Amino acid sequence: MQFLSMSIQVKQINKSYGTTQVLHDVSFECNNGETLVLLGPSGAGKSSLLRVLNLLESADDGQLSITDHQFDFSAPIAEKQELQLRRKVGMVFQQYNLWPHMTVMQNLIEAPVKVAGMTVEEAKKQALEILTTLQLADKADTWPLQLSGGQQQRVAIARALMMKPEVLLFDEPTAALDPEITTQVVEIIKELSATGITQVVVTHEVDFAKKIASHVLYLEKGHIVEHGTNEIFSNPQTTAFADYLKH
Ligand SMILES: Nc1ncnc2c1ncn2[C@@H]1O[C@H](COP(=O)(O)OP(=O)(O)OP(=O)(O)O)[C@@H](O)[C@H]1O
Ligand SMILES: [Mg+2]
Repeated sequence: MQFLSMSIQVKQINKSYGTTQVLHDVSFECNNGETLVLLGPSGAGKSSLLRVLNLLESADDGQLSITDHQFDFSAPIAEKQELQLRRKVGMVFQQYNLWPHMTVMQNLIEAPVKVAGMTVEEAKKQALEILTTLQLADKADTWPLQLSGGQQQRVAIARALMMKPEVLLFDEPTAALDPEITTQVVEIIKELSATGITQVVVTHEVDFAKKIASHVLYLEKGHIVEHGTNEIFSNPQTTAFADYLKH
């Protein structure tokens, strides 16, 4: 018998910026292969929570377990541990963050070669495979700024996949994209999900969320208001989430 194994476990995380607390006692669990969508009004703490999962930000206290790495925020976390974690937990931002002075291929092989010690030859071979899957093989030698927004976003996803992450985090991956490109991102996320990768996706777009989510976490003012499976879209358990879905 196979048991679902835990990919992400967050326990009682609190986080403040100065005197403003932006995450309040946040706890949840996420199994391997889930696609968890984080929803909530602007300022709810979605991006802050996502950055904590990747240790781009530290929490003030609480515990995080992700891809078999355990962190307790009440003690400082060593940089070495952060780097180890980021090999397994990839991040894709709204603004792509591609290096403009590097071609698509160079963007893809930079971290695997410099950080993970892959040979250039190996990295290029893998990059071409991933670019082919994302229908970008002909763009390998192109500069990022010569690509459309949708192509840049796919390159950013390709770059994150180069490290073979176990968890992939997305912060508003479709915010600047037109509906057709958003459909492509939906397909990519579903295909990744079928390979067993765990994904956490912040978005404002409810239709997009419905299409990709296996699970949903709804936040308001740094508090978890609702957490459930895709089924809560049609059957919200709180009036707050029901109201959010209406607008
Ligand atoms: N680096 C920072 N320094 C100070 N305050 C911050 C910082 N980043 C975020 N905040 C504050 O933390 C709160 C939560 O912000 P966060 O970016 O996590 O919200 P969000 O849910 O992602 O919102 P949005 O949907 O607008 O992206 C906000 O009140 C914001 O002003
Ligand atoms: Mg945000």
